Amino acid sequence: MKTYRIAVIPGDGIGPEVINEGVKVLNKIAELDSSFEFDFTYFPWGCEFYTKHGKMMDDDGIDQLKDFAAIYLGAVGFPGVPDHISLWDLLLVIRKSFDQYVNLRPVQLLHGAHSALANVKNDEIDMLFIRENTEGEYAGAGDWLFKGQDNEVVLQNAVFSRKGTERIIRYAFEVAKREGKTLTSISKANALNYSMVFWDEVFEEVSLDYPEVKTASYLVDAAAMLMITDPKRFEIIVTSNLFGDILTDVGAAIAGGIGLAAGANINPERRYPSMFEPVHGSAPDIAGKGLSNPLATIWSASQMLDFFGYKEYGKAIASGIEELLSTKEFLTPDMGGTATTSEVGEKMVEILTSQIKRKVLG
Ligand code: NAD
Ligand code: IPM
Ligand code: MN
Repeated sequence: MKTYRIAVIPGDGIGPEVINEGVKVLNKIAELDSSFEFDFTYFPWGCEFYTKHGKMMDDDGIDQLKDFAAIYLGAVGFPGVPDHISLWDLLLVIRKSFDQYVNLRPVQLLHGAHSALANVKNDEIDMLFIRENTEGEYAGAGDWLFKGQDNEVVLQNAVFSRKGTERIIRYAFEVAKREGKTLTSISKANALNYSMVFWDEVFEEVSLDYPEVKTASYLVDAAAMLMITDPKRFEIIVTSNLFGDILTDVGAAIAGGIGLAAGANINPERRYPSMFEPVHGSAPDIAGKGLSNPLATIWSASQMLDFFGYKEYGKAIASGIEELLSTKEFLTPDMGGTATTSEVGEKMVEILTSQIKRKVLG
């Protein structure tokens, strides 16, 4: 029997609630399959840990995580700890230390999900965002000079290395080629006259190696509009760290809401663990009440299963979510229902159990 050692970081706010349901789903799938199992190790890191210990994780935290097969993370951030500390010292340090330079975020309108767009068909919203995840606008390079004085100056530098830019664009071309889909680059070279001019040049250069992939290139402002007015033109998308962050929240809104948006932080070389998490944050406004939607976290578990090579279970989770959505029962309040977080998780376990048994029995 194969054992996958998973590091679980439930984190803050609704993080622990939604992670619980994801773990239930993963355990049930392993139990039904019986050729593999999960061994979960929990790390109590986050804002509460910070208030006790003055740090977001143990000093050797990265070292503790490095041999796990994957990391499963809920959410990070809570009032009382400045966001730039809580996020930089936990989530962002993991993405960077483990060179998780690919952030995969599907924007797909599942059957039964409610889009913020009127009259849109399911197959018209089916995109995959490939967001650069370790540098760009999130390089963390800058300075704060003459603090509090009249001549105060703040610098926040974006860093676009050739290696970092080329590898994310090449990764996206490989996905588009494999899936026979179009690839759209989203940038902003009219105003960002170094970084995005460079991005566009690299995109052009790499495209020469993929003559079979049909490409498009949009400015980010126009792309934000087109995602709403004509989402069907987007298939595979490659973009920078900040643009990808913002546009995938737009994506969440048009594809069923933030409670459904999943993401995977991938180290494609598999030198380090990859990390699976919902796109949403810790939602302090609803934390601790059983109101949070666990489906994004459950969908990110399907990305984990894909990553381990169990594509059939990845698909089963997606179609299980569709079945759950179509029943209209067992939805949390953000989707117009009255179910609790754990009722949704338990229903997902029930749906998957019967789906998988049906498959096995024939
Ligand atoms: P948020 O995603 O936490 O919440 C935005 C809105 O969406 C809120 O109204 C919230 O109630 C709702 N929402 C989010 N997830 C939901 C779910 N699963 N079910 C139902 N409703 C849900 O974003 P925010 O309010 O901008 O940030 C809150 C905190 O989370 C901040 O500290 C922020 O830095 C942090 N954050 C962390 C991550 C992460 O850990 N990956 C991502 C985004 C924000
Ligand atoms: C996300 C989040 C993070 C990001 C924050 C919390 C640093 O918004 O994963 O989308 O911007 O990458
Ligand atoms: Mn975000």
